[in-house]
Amino acid sequence: MITRILNPEREEDINFAGELLRNGKLCAIPTETVYGLAANALDGKAVKEIFEVKGRPSDNPLIVHISDINELQALVKEVPEKAKKLMEAFWPGPLTIILPKTDIVPYATTGNLDTVAVRFPENEIARAVIKAAGVPLAAPSANLSGEPSPTEFKYVFEDLDGRVPAVIDGGDCAVGVESTVITLATEKPRLLRPGGITPEMIESIIGEIDIDKAVTEKMQQGAKVSSPGMKYKHYSPDCSIIIADLSFEEYVKLVNESDCDGALCFEGEEKYLNKKAVTFGKCYDGLSQAHRLFSALKELDELGLKKVYARCPQKRGVGLAVYNRLIRSAGYSFYKASSMVIGLTGTTGSGKSTVCKELKDLGFKIIDCDKLTKSGIYEGECLKKLVNFFGKGIIDEKGELIRKNLAALAFENKENTQKLNEITHPYVTAKIKSEIEKYKEAGAKFIILDAPTLFEAEADKLCCKIISVVSDKETRLKRIMSRDGIDENLASLRIKAQKEDSFYIERSDYIIKNDGDVESLFESVQKIAADVVR
Ligand code: TXA
Ligand code: MG
Repeated sequence: MITRILNPEREEDINFAGELLRNGKLCAIPTETVYGLAANALDGKAVKEIFEVKGRPSDNPLIVHISDINELQALVKEVPEKAKKLMEAFWPGPLTIILPKTDIVPYATTGNLDTVAVRFPENEIARAVIKAAGVPLAAPSANLSGEPSPTEFKYVFEDLDGRVPAVIDGGDCAVGVESTVITLATEKPRLLRPGGITPEMIESIIGEIDIDKAVTEKMQQGAKVSSPGMKYKHYSPDCSIIIADLSFEEYVKLVNESDCDGALCFEGEEKYLNKKAVTFGKCYDGLSQAHRLFSALKELDELGLKKVYARCPQKRGVGLAVYNRLIRSAGYSFYKASSMVIGLTGTTGSGKSTVCKELKDLGFKIIDCDKLTKSGIYEGECLKKLVNFFGKGIIDEKGELIRKNLAALAFENKENTQKLNEITHPYVTAKIKSEIEKYKEAGAKFIILDAPTLFEAEADKLCCKIISVVSDKETRLKRIMSRDGIDENLASLRIKAQKEDSFYIERSDYIIKNDGDVESLFESVQKIAADVVR
């Protein structure tokens, strides 16, 4: 079969795609998530061809794509209130909603299920093709079954050339991982596949949802799955991938000193590595990681790599979607160290100390960076640099630091705070490292690095996981005033000198929102602790 490449900017090409699809033929189309291999969703025979071309197991259901909210009614029996709210908030966009199906949707499309997955894509080319076809389109990712999903045209063509009548060249996909899949056919909404629309975004619209265990864990053999797609091999390049659940520093050492022949790391990290590296987005930036992941997996094979260690994405926000795909491409293989350093940080007055105490009670070893820095840092070379910048007013006649004076100057504005950090942090880091080593040698498994300026000091590079404690400004103001015996003015200056909550949230694996209720605070600490030690 000759595969025609269609140009989405030409109306006649879009119409040609529409005609093919209306007549029961296949066509690959771009969407904002990944490319899809489309057929008329209401034509069982056409749908069966998708399964054949992809080599896809017939019980793995397809998603039905629509181009207008009015097309939904014919496909599903009813639309519950929560579904309506999600559609209003996120459609068109990368969210797929599962609801009980009507009779016009063939069982071939739903893998014999009585429910149907519906998605209203945002991508204009996808919508134009659905409109031109005049029928809803079933479209799984346009890869051969088991391969990474294609997010660039060249990979679609590589897989499908000669197997389908036409493919549309729509450039690169914006999101890069497949849509979020949520079922509202169960009593409580349940997330089956994470994507660009995050659990946090969904919960802000319809309240608490369940997250299927298979999202972050390997299913036991023979276990009942909520979504048939969960049980199949997925996103696998030929190269074998091992996820390194380590700090950045440990990762660099592992890659450089082990027998792997490459690395799958974040942008900018490759310069520390002595092996071939493929990058997938920026550290702490799930969106950019999602955008790059599938192409990065392809590039591992293009480079002929056989075994790489991959950096571990965060399990929150869009990072959860990246994590979900990466554990599958790695066949769930992890490299873990015998001891793990966990960073604990957050805004001043957020209740970090309370969290720390609770973690200590749970058996974690604690390194108190504040205490550590109070002894043996503000002297010698470091103190000289501080006096050079902040002036002689910060030392007494004996040449010793007057802490209060330094603090007053340092917290006066952001620039001063930054300068203080810049000067002291190399000294602090050296001390922290030696403290970590001591604990490791003593056989500690989980070490908490309690550091208010974890990121500023770049001590996050020493941590495998990061917990941030945040809290609303009013509560923090009160806490700081009573804790430090200072007035509201000074307390608010201290808050102002700090980064916003979002800074911490973006960079953390776990967030604790501490708005005063001690019981729920302890509950979230315990939940996090349980996840960390697993
Ligand atoms: O972003 C996307 O959703 C892309 C683009 C092309 O739109 N499509 C896509 O389709 O990812 P596919 O077939 O690769 O993934 C569909 C997933 C499967 O894992 C399947 O198990 C699940 O959706 N699914 C579909 N219908 C379902 C149903 N009725 N119940 C449970 N899971 C369902
Ligand atoms: Mg797929």
